[in-house]
Amino acid sequence: MSDALLRLEGVNTHIGRYHILHGVDFTVPRGQLTMLLGRNGAGKTTTLRTIMGLWRASKGHIHFNGRDITALPTPDIARAGLAYVPETMGIFDDLTVRENMILAARNGEIDPKRLQWIFGLFPALEKFWTLAAGVLSGGQKQMLAIARAIVEPRDLLLIDEPTKGLAPAIIINMIEAFRELKSTGATILLVEQNFMAAKLLGDSVVVMDDGRIVHRGAMAELAEDHGLQQKLLGLSMDSHQ
Ligand SMILES: Nc1ncnc2c1ncn2[C@@H]1O[C@H](COP(=O)(O)OP(=O)(O)O)[C@@H](O)[C@H]1O
Ligand SMILES: [Mg+2]
Repeated sequence: MSDALLRLEGVNTHIGRYHILHGVDFTVPRGQLTMLLGRNGAGKTTTLRTIMGLWRASKGHIHFNGRDITALPTPDIARAGLAYVPETMGIFDDLTVRENMILAARNGEIDPKRLQWIFGLFPALEKFWTLAAGVLSGGQKQMLAIARAIVEPRDLLLIDEPTKGLAPAIIINMIEAFRELKSTGATILLVEQNFMAAKLLGDSVVVMDDGRIVHRGAMAELAEDHGLQQKLLGLSMDSHQ
């Protein structure tokens, strides 16, 4: 498949003496939004961290853009065109929104056109531009974290649970921003617990359980198959209201 931007083959990860990932195989097609779903503790965050080289694969390979990045140091992986938004977001509360953004830019300068595009995606950032990031709400911080990841053009965005703990109205804003981002042709691997968001945004889906991939397919297919959702994710009918 030549359209796979990222490919994991038989990836195993150990954290200390714990064997967490057991042969993870999946691809992220170029220009698509791939959802990575699974119950708590399934290994989603470990997978993202392993892709970024923050945990090391003890076995298996990770190819990005046709290049083996399995053993590259994290800064080289980032330089190859991957951006990672961890659950903890990595925002500097004491710095202004502007300073947070500038720190994420390669040479300390943000392309003005790109900044206007980012403001269009996340208007709150323009509004709070000169204020300390610490005053932002949880949703606005999440938006700042994503904005930092796209301050430079990136080939692939890895984003870990961006809607976690957010109010429904904010989740809707976030979904809109992701739709806009998708429409620019961005390739995204998104970990999400909110099934509504997953359903609205995902092109394809990968489901993990216990450090293994237990399902791959089209998001639309999983969205319609409630029995499969129940089996893979333990979702009840309530999650469809
Ligand atoms: N730093 C760590 N040390 C030991 N075990 C860990 C560590 N981080 C995660 N794990 C374990 O790895 C498994 C997968 O965790 P994680 O990747 O965070 O799951 P998910 O993101 O799908 O909720 C869990 O059993 C978790 O307890
Ligand atoms: Mg996680």
